[in-house]
Amino acid sequence: MNYNKKTVKDVDVKGKKVLLRCDFNVPQDKNTGAITDDKRIRAALPTIQYLLDNGAAVIACSHLGKPVATFDSYVKKQVEKGKDPATVTEESWKKSLKKLSLAPVAERLGELLGKPVTLAADVIGPDAQAKAAALKPGEVLLLENTRFEKGETKNDPAMAKALADLTGEGGIYVSDAFGAVHRAHASTAGVADYLPAVSGFLIQKELEIIGGALANPKRPLVAILGGAKVSSKIGVINNLLEIADTIIIGGGMSYTFSAAAGGKIGDSLLEADWEDYANEMVKKAADKGIKLLLPVDTVIGDAFAADANSKIVAAGEIPDGWQGLDIGPETIKLYSDAVKDAGTVIWNGPMGVFEFPAFAKGTEAIAEALSKTDAITIIGGGDSAAAVQQLGFADKMTHISTGGGASLEFMEGKVLPGVACLLDK
Ligand code: 3PG
Repeated sequence: MNYNKKTVKDVDVKGKKVLLRCDFNVPQDKNTGAITDDKRIRAALPTIQYLLDNGAAVIACSHLGKPVATFDSYVKKQVEKGKDPATVTEESWKKSLKKLSLAPVAERLGELLGKPVTLAADVIGPDAQAKAAALKPGEVLLLENTRFEKGETKNDPAMAKALADLTGEGGIYVSDAFGAVHRAHASTAGVADYLPAVSGFLIQKELEIIGGALANPKRPLVAILGGAKVSSKIGVINNLLEIADTIIIGGGMSYTFSAAAGGKIGDSLLEADWEDYANEMVKKAADKGIKLLLPVDTVIGDAFAADANSKIVAAGEIPDGWQGLDIGPETIKLYSDAVKDAGTVIWNGPMGVFEFPAFAKGTEAIAEALSKTDAITIIGGGDSAAAVQQLGFADKMTHISTGGGASLEFMEGKVLPGVACLLDK
């Protein structure tokens, strides 16, 4: 996939209406609906500000959550969840949609920009059309949740064209929704069939840094992979086995490696179906001369709980009734040493259950080690980004990706539809 894409700076936006796809899929408080983290809205500001400063009118759009776009599908989903269809009302469906309105985003975006952001009551309907037609340079309109339209996730050409038509004569499509570029949806990919399509600054940065690290890394390239499951990281491991110099394995998935090597893992997380694969990977790394580091010790708990009793044991020697919840101190030292002289470090997935303070030391120590290297440090994936933020090391990293699934698929070497659809330089 070509990462060298045209950006907002390569097109003349003056006097134009720009359809700007953002990823405003922000976390919200379950009860009040208040936005609990506005990072994704802030991340879109440089592009929006640039467009406004350069005389464009901005029609922003985004999805939020996973609304069910039609009442029929809503009933089906509720029935799957075990509800009696007779009790599923249109009112409850509408209520579920209302919860996923972009109204709180419009308000927060307006506060951050210091100017009002008008919210359209629909996505491509009469209100969006009227408001888009009346929009003047320097103004911002936000469309309602793109997933309120059933054509969105189906990448329906009619919806893509209707979105494009909102921009009128000479319109431009700008994508800055890095978190959603792995989705081939009407607003993330299809719309580019109808408008000249370029990237905003956020996508440009993600492509430059992550793309650069994958295509032409400053070596040695060290990949740290953690998280619960081997199965969810297969694609990344496979791709990194082609490019990394060292691969470090931590987190829940390391216990499958340990079991595959004949170790005792007690009640630790195990994906038995993936043991052969784990062994194959160890062999593949050895054949290719890639260093593959596995934990040498582990912090175990007698329950999956914040207040579990804990102790440290050698890897592969976990007694029954106990489970591995973090990497141990010897492993911390081994892994911290391995990143010291790295040229580039890509980190995806925590080393332990960092949500429990007693089992956060491994993740914290790796974050600290990364904060001290001169290497380019790239944090990808929702959980690792959250861990680095929660542990207070965010400003010490070169780049924290704004994409969860998107950055994972990027690291797997997959084509990202929301990037592939943009104009090449
Ligand atoms: C994300 O939060 O990772 C993106 O916004 C994509 O959301 P989705 O998984 O609902 O497509």
